[in-house]
Amino acid sequence: MNKLDVGILGATGMVGQRFVSLLEDHPWFRVTWLAASEKSAGKSYAEACNWRLRDPMPAAVRDMEVQECKPGKAPLLLFSSLDSKIAGEVEKQFARAGHAVISNSSNHRMDPDVPLVIPEVNPDHLRLIPGQRLARGWTGMIVTNPNCTAIGLVMSLAPLERSFGLEKVLMTSMQAVSGAGYPGVPTLDILGNVIPYISSEEEKVEREAHKLLGKLSDGHVEPAGFAMSAHCNRVLVEDGHMESISVSLRSKASVTDLVESWRSFRALPQDRQLPSAPARPVVVRDEVDRPQPRFDINAEHGMAAVVGRVRTCNVLQFKYTALSHNTIRGAAGAALLNAELMKSEGYLD
Ligand SMILES: NC(=O)c1ccc[n+]([C@@H]2O[C@H](COP(=O)([O-])OP(=O)(O)OC[C@H]3O[C@@H](n4cnc5c(N)ncnc54)[C@H](OP(=O)(O)O)[C@@H]3O)[C@@H](O)[C@H]2O)c1
Repeated sequence: MNKLDVGILGATGMVGQRFVSLLEDHPWFRVTWLAASEKSAGKSYAEACNWRLRDPMPAAVRDMEVQECKPGKAPLLLFSSLDSKIAGEVEKQFARAGHAVISNSSNHRMDPDVPLVIPEVNPDHLRLIPGQRLARGWTGMIVTNPNCTAIGLVMSLAPLERSFGLEKVLMTSMQAVSGAGYPGVPTLDILGNVIPYISSEEEKVEREAHKLLGKLSDGHVEPAGFAMSAHCNRVLVEDGHMESISVSLRSKASVTDLVESWRSFRALPQDRQLPSAPARPVVVRDEVDRPQPRFDINAEHGMAAVVGRVRTCNVLQFKYTALSHNTIRGAAGAALLNAELMKSEGYLD
């Protein structure tokens, strides 16, 4: 197969670096264009980027010149990991110029005509694209993936919603420092500390969970109806957002039923064997003290939601712990899987 050229908006940031790393040797896509702020434009990627990943910077991008975020020479397919202060306008400019923009930023996630997609959960929401093109009068498109906390939560909730129906969800997160970008949270704020506030995070997680688990009808998404409350905290962990979750279900179930619904969960990306699809979207750990970020974030190459500690709850019906890699499944890997889904559906032809 001839590889499709792709570009990255915000290529020098935490998520941008993950894109570069995940796209090295990708069977369908090849990075040919990198862009970031004016301060990075004109420099080589190696000069402009403060590379923070353990794997070395891929040789193919080291000497690539970083561009300004302006349409013109960019390839059709663009991954965006731009700072949300500017992502909204810049992504629209590229869609107007005919590009398919697959974004990590929060700006357009809740726009009614923009698909917010987890390929294992709501691939059909891509059908918003024709309406988006018509309404906005552009030939390009914007497709988004969820907030890094919403994604692990919703991957664990989706099998429960399908099998038993969700009535109530309560989630308390412990979110890694890499979720705040680079350089992120100052050391003196987070060292030996927990910060019980991440701006707008709780509202994003609640709204996005309802849209992701909502139903597509008459060209719009009808949000799911369960009650939900999120508490979000920043903790001193490098990578991996952990979540304590309690749920009430609409139909009767047991702990064994929940575990079975996660273990048997497979969806379109697995059926189609998309290159970035985890073989098991939800991995269940049986040990009493797992999942833990140190040991479990790289399950299925960082693309799985890992759950464990499933038990009954005295207030809601069941409680469990979930973990996902915030810059892989929660960001760059999620967008990459969206692009693979879109390619397999013919949206990038
Ligand atoms: N980190 C996570 O776990 C995570 C997860 C999900 C979603 N997200 C979202 O993904 C986006 C990127 O996050 P991040 O953690 O990678 O942030 P980051 O490390 O701060 O990187 C931001 C990127 O945006 C570029 N940028 C900043 N201002 C710009 C401007 N005026 N014009 C053009 N480019 C500009 C930066 O380029 P320079 O290097 O040239 O300044 C850099 O490439 C954010 O919207 C974030 O909310 C992050």
